[in-house]
Amino acid sequence: MTLIDGKMVASELRKEIRAEVAALNRENIRPCLAVVLVGDNPASRVYVSNKEKDCAECGLVSKEHKLSAETGEQELLALIAALNADESVHGIIVQLPLPKQIDEQRVIAAISPDKDVDCFHPYNVGCMMQGNDRFLPCTPAGVMALLDYYHIDPAGKHCVVLGRSNIVGKPQAMLLLRRNGTVTICHSKTPDLAAECRKADILVSAVGKVNLVTADMVKQGAVVIDVAMNRNEAGKLCGDVAFDAVAPQCSYITPVPGGVGPMTRLMLLRNTLTAAARKK
Ligand code: GUN
Repeated sequence: MTLIDGKMVASELRKEIRAEVAALNRENIRPCLAVVLVGDNPASRVYVSNKEKDCAECGLVSKEHKLSAETGEQELLALIAALNADESVHGIIVQLPLPKQIDEQRVIAAISPDKDVDCFHPYNVGCMMQGNDRFLPCTPAGVMALLDYYHIDPAGKHCVVLGRSNIVGKPQAMLLLRRNGTVTICHSKTPDLAAECRKADILVSAVGKVNLVTADMVKQGAVVIDVAMNRNEAGKLCGDVAFDAVAPQCSYITPVPGGVGPMTRLMLLRNTLTAAARKK
């Protein structure tokens, strides 16, 4: 069994990002990510501060916009319009979830597709579906980069994705399909989840449920990628996979933390550089 070391791979790829930033700087382009946080969801605050840290470490400029939990939709849309028009801003992310009074889909659709570094805008999602990318969604792209790093080719493999969110499950399935995997998406209404999972050569879990994937659900020699970030009863960070029991029967497995998470963060920087480079 090989442990997929996302932290190590991300730090390797971070060197390339730094070099790309330096090259853009020489052309007087200062790659800049605008990060919008509405309200004070504790998890969102951690994610946002990590994104800023990542930008600082790699030489990107980050501009934070913190709005109160009572912010109205119009006010947020006005900020997005200003960021769309601001030539110094290359990428925009609005941290989700948003407070109830704001329609997330309307906000996502208001971000210029050219600056949509999350790859959530319907136009960019459509481009990804057609294999004609502008950006790739960060978490699924991070998973694919990990597979590539370890020379795990989805072509001809049976790939099972657990979860059908717009952020991970659906685009993950699409990226695996694009690489010629045979893909099954499972979800809360799948009748025999264990039987579906046992067919997987590559199993990607993105549900958010501690110990969802147990040893009896994993084929001998499978590749197991755990995208989830949960806390167990002891408050410890963990994924969906019962790691200790599952790991011995895998060919490759990601830990949580230190697996997919660092790659997701890196892919956001990559998308921001893609957006900035288009300004050349
Ligand atoms: N909330 C949880 N994950 C994400 C993400 O990747 N992007 C944004 N904008 N919000 C999130």
